[in-house]
Formats: sequence, structure tokens, C-alpha cells
Amino acid sequence: MNDLLVFNIGSLVTNDPKHGGLLGLLPDAAVAVIDGVVGWIGVEDAIPTEYGDLPRLDAGGAAMLPGFVDPHTHLVFAGDRSDEFAMRLRGESYEEILAAGGGILSTVAATRVTSEDDLYDAAAERVWRMLTNGTTTVEVKSGYGLDTATEEKMLRVARRLDESLPVDIIPTFLGAHVIPPEYREDRHAYVDLVCGEMLDACAPLAQFCDVFNDEAAFTVAETRRILEAAKSRGLEGRVHADQLGRVGAAHLAAELSATSADHLDHATNEDLMAMNAAGTSAVLLPAVSFSMRLPYPDGRRIWDSGVTVALATDCNPGTANVESMPFVVALAALNMGLTPDEAIWAATRGGALSLRLGDRGHLLPGAVADLVILDAPSHLHIPYRPDADLVAAVVKGGVIL
Ligand code: NIG
Ligand code: FE
Repeated sequence: MNDLLVFNIGSLVTNDPKHGGLLGLLPDAAVAVIDGVVGWIGVEDAIPTEYGDLPRLDAGGAAMLPGFVDPHTHLVFAGDRSDEFAMRLRGESYEEILAAGGGILSTVAATRVTSEDDLYDAAAERVWRMLTNGTTTVEVKSGYGLDTATEEKMLRVARRLDESLPVDIIPTFLGAHVIPPEYREDRHAYVDLVCGEMLDACAPLAQFCDVFNDEAAFTVAETRRILEAAKSRGLEGRVHADQLGRVGAAHLAAELSATSADHLDHATNEDLMAMNAAGTSAVLLPAVSFSMRLPYPDGRRIWDSGVTVALATDCNPGTANVESMPFVVALAALNMGLTPDEAIWAATRGGALSLRLGDRGHLLPGAVADLVILDAPSHLHIPYRPDADLVAAVVKGGVIL
């Protein structure tokens, strides 16, 4: 039984508005976990006697928050693109490198020839590092196969990660990442393949379907076709939207009631209003702006539009080889105009909502008991001490890791 009483919590982030403020902070708190789920939450002086005999975990007077939910990653991949990284620092653009067959396409070539076991081993190491940084739920995309067999292989790796590691993995099919080289002269045939054979094979292995709808990737019309085909097979949409230019991707995401539109560097206020009305979350990826040395999207403007904001690493070998949600929180607070509280909320509850996971990202009776105890007195230390290893302990579903 995954039962636990965490006590001596100096400052508890509940994300429960009942306790006031965005984060619902509770000082001197305790949390009782029954069978992996929060059973009771409150001030330490008022622990009900029925929880007196549970196994106990002393938080040492430190801060505790819900486990981070990372709703956008490409963490299953083979190969290394540090050479491309150095080229970009010398001035070559991401688009030039992709057009010359590098970038995403070099990861595709490496991923196609790597065995499922080797892909799993490399991805499992990344997931373990994420866990030690407090991430307890992570979305994982395919998209480095671009042929049916490799897309399936990537999604099977995601499933194996979910089954074998103490982290929840949410799989997303991203067959429409870019047009693979063998279809460069006939992109229509590739979209046909994605909408037919590939989705038939991959939909049973995935929860969401994502499309890179941008200047160097898929058009709005192609994206619409793919997301509609995915929806007819039970997959909700996510969109890599308007990262490189404003092509209307965020607007399309809203029109199709996609669960999220991600990146949004070039989204307009009108696009954000449409997303808000449609219930489409905004997933922001500050580690991409950081790693690509690009201007940061205006997180303040996006938050103030009313959309649900989530933060994610975008962990991938090209634009953000980053695994730590605390680092992402620090980047968002320091560079995107989000307050520290907003950044913490977006990295926990916002991420959960963007994946339609109502049962986590907050701490109240009935929520999944995914907990992060910090080696710090306050959640504010996450952006305040951006290079510190602040995660002291992680609890996943009531189990201390
Ligand atoms: O989210 N924008 C497209 N896809 C990824 C990058 C993938 C890569 O470069 O390998 C992203 O930034
Ligand atoms: Fe991405």
C-alpha cells in the first residue's frame, strides 16, 4: 500500500485556490497519502488521529510542491547534435541546417538505425535525470522516425518507459514533424501516409497527435487534415504553433479545439483570444529561446490573455537539450515576464491541465500523490537560485523514490 504521512512541511504549494492566492500556500503543513492518493491535507497541528499510524516522512521544515508535469518533450532519440549547436553559435540558422539535411533529419537518420533497446536505454537515463529534478509526469513525442516502423518503435519505447519507471509517460504521435527526405518531391504523398497507414499503426500506441505547423514544416491545410484524421481515431490534437513565423497555427489549434498550442513565439493577441475561448492551453518552452539565443515569447501577454499557461522543457537534441523543470521555471520567471508563482503553477497544474490530467499538478484530497520536497524553505528559491540542485526528495504515487 502506498500510504504515507508527510509532516513538518514548512511551506506547502497546493495549487488549491481554497487556501488563497494562485498557489494556495499552506505554512506548517502535513499531507496524508492513502493508496497513492492524497487523503487529507492541512496544518500540522490538526492531523486527524486516523492517520497517526501511517509511515512517516519528515520534510524537515522545507518547502514542498506537486511533482512537475512536463507536457512537451522529444526525449526518445538517438545521436548527438553538438556539432550543429556549435554551427549555430557561429551564425548558421536552424532553418539553413534543416534545409541542408541536418537538424531534425540527422536525428531521424540516427533514430531509424538504432535498436529499440538502445533507444530505450538512452531515454530511460533522461527520464531518471528528470525524476531527480522533480518531474513525475512527462509527455513524450515520436517524430524522429517519419516512417511507420520507426514511429511505432518510438511509441513502444515510450510505453516501455511508462511501464518500467516510476514516472507517468504520456505518448504523443508526431509523424508530421517534418517531411522526410524520401518524400521531399511529393509532400502530398507523405501527408497521405501519415493520415492512413501511420495513424492506423500509431494511434493505438498514443494519446495525442501533434503536428509541427510552421514555415519549415507543415502548412495549416496539411495540419488540419492530419489532426482531423487523428481525431477520428480518438487522438486529441497538440500543435507546434507559430514558432518560426506566424502561419496561423495557433488559430487553427483553437478552431480544432486542440488541447494545446506550443511555442507561440509569433502568436497574435487574436490567436490567444481564440485559444482561450476554445480551451486550448499555451505550452511555453523558454529553454528553446535560451538555447537558440532567440527572443523569448512574452509570457506576461500570454498569461494575461486568460489562456491556461504551461511550461515544458521541449527536451530534444536540437533546440533545447534540457531536462530540468526547475531550470525552465527559472528561465520563465527571469525572461518571460511570469512571476515566480505563475511559473511554478505553469510547471505543475498548468502542465497537467494542458494534458487534460485533472488528477494531478495540485494537492487536495483525491489528487495523485506526486510530491517534491525541496532543499529550501520556499518555492521562490527555484528561480532565485537557478543553478542549485534544490530537489531533496521525490514521492511518486505515495512511494518515496
Ligand atoms: O520543439 N520545432 C520542432 N521540433 C522541435 C525541435 C526538434 C529538433 O530540432 O530535433 C522543437 O523545437
Ligand atoms: Fe517540440
